[in-house]
Amino acid sequence: MVSRREFVKKTMLVVLGGLAVSRLTPLARAAGEAAGQEAPSLPWPYVELDPEETRKLGHLGYYMFECAGGAFWAITVQLKEKIGYPWTLLPIPSREEVMKALEEGRHIPGLMQYGYGGAVGWASLCGSLNGALMAINMVLGEKAEWDKIGKLLMRYYETTPLPTEKSNEYAVKGEFYVKKLKSDKWLPQSVSGSVLCHVSVSKWCRVSGYASGSKERAERCARLTGDIAARAVELLNAYKRGRLEEVAASLTLSPTTASCRVCHYKGKDYEIGQFTRGYMQCESCHTDMRPHAHTFVDIARPSSEPAEEAGSSKGLLAAGAAAGAAIGVVAGALASSKNKEERQ
Ligand code: HEC
Ligand code: HEC
Repeated sequence: MVSRREFVKKTMLVVLGGLAVSRLTPLARAAGEAAGQEAPSLPWPYVELDPEETRKLGHLGYYMFECAGGAFWAITVQLKEKIGYPWTLLPIPSREEVMKALEEGRHIPGLMQYGYGGAVGWASLCGSLNGALMAINMVLGEKAEWDKIGKLLMRYYETTPLPTEKSNEYAVKGEFYVKKLKSDKWLPQSVSGSVLCHVSVSKWCRVSGYASGSKERAERCARLTGDIAARAVELLNAYKRGRLEEVAASLTLSPTTASCRVCHYKGKDYEIGQFTRGYMQCESCHTDMRPHAHTFVDIARPSSEPAEEAGSSKGLLAAGAAAGAAIGVVAGALASSKNKEERQ
């Protein structure tokens, strides 16, 4: 048994990122274990995981830790099983402990459960993304790496009909690890167009006819948690093999979002519209933009590749500003003729 004091100390080490042991040779690993298990700095080691196993574990994880905790647990528990140290430093229960506790109706506290319902029920960022992104962060370490995979995962969430057919199939055929499901029906799918729990749940409830407090909605989120954890692992596997393009060619934003981001992105030029930031699908909230120049910008279809954030590429920034100004002029001309049409 670990004393409470030791436990707290270990957890703190994990949270703080620990000391600098960057490459983990087996020797270093053994040394780490012997030396009171100090947490090495990120990235932590990764081995290829099976997306389908991850889908089932994400679903199981939801039943104990909800969406964020479930997605994080699904990935990290496998790394703990397959690699051991340093993943053994994480205060997360084994799958056997989770299964047993579920049967006995007991709860085990887990990491990242705070992310439930879009962070303590606030319905902001979907927890399954929050949890999976944390695992990706730990596995890749460097921002340039996890940022890329993370963006692909966010976009997948916005555009994919969820829960996936695979997880519906597991539920109907009784192939999930959870013995008694909240619902074993084939559940309706919906495309959220947003990474927000609020939009995702509300749209799904309207499509399916189930209330947000229903067992079916909870089961939908359990399946979705598995789906997002599985996708995270697919992306990680491909990335580690140097074959990311086989699962996700590039980050393709919606044409409208790309058109808005010609002017509106994190940058230093306030005048052209750089007083906001983000990649969320703009049209999921800004629907009536008639008074605004951009309404006709779609015609121009700028590249759907995201422009670099300020500071990382001054060239792109300048190009964006120039394109924005040009489009603004065209848009202005079109806007007045459209308005005349509308008045007729
Ligand atoms: C050609 C550059 C450009 C494009 C493209 C553009 N905007 Fe803007 N936008 C601006 C500027 C500049 C302002 C500030 C206008 C002002 O202060 O009067 C603005 C203002 C806004 C505002 C504030 C309210 C308003 O209507 O003035 C919103 C919201 C907005 N833009 C959303 C969008 C969205 C959504 C898109 C894509 C569909 C978009 N913009 C595309 C330049 C642009
Ligand atoms: C989840 C909903 C949501 C999404 C998605 C979203 N916005 Fe907004 N946006 C808002 C809200 C709410 C405000 C604040 C509006 C206010 O209080 O006037 C805002 C403010 C803005 C403003 C400043 C408005 C002003 O009053 O000057 C701009 C510009 C803007 N958004 C552009 C965008 C662009 C571009 C995108 C896509 C990259 C986007 N937004 C995506 C909800 C959203």
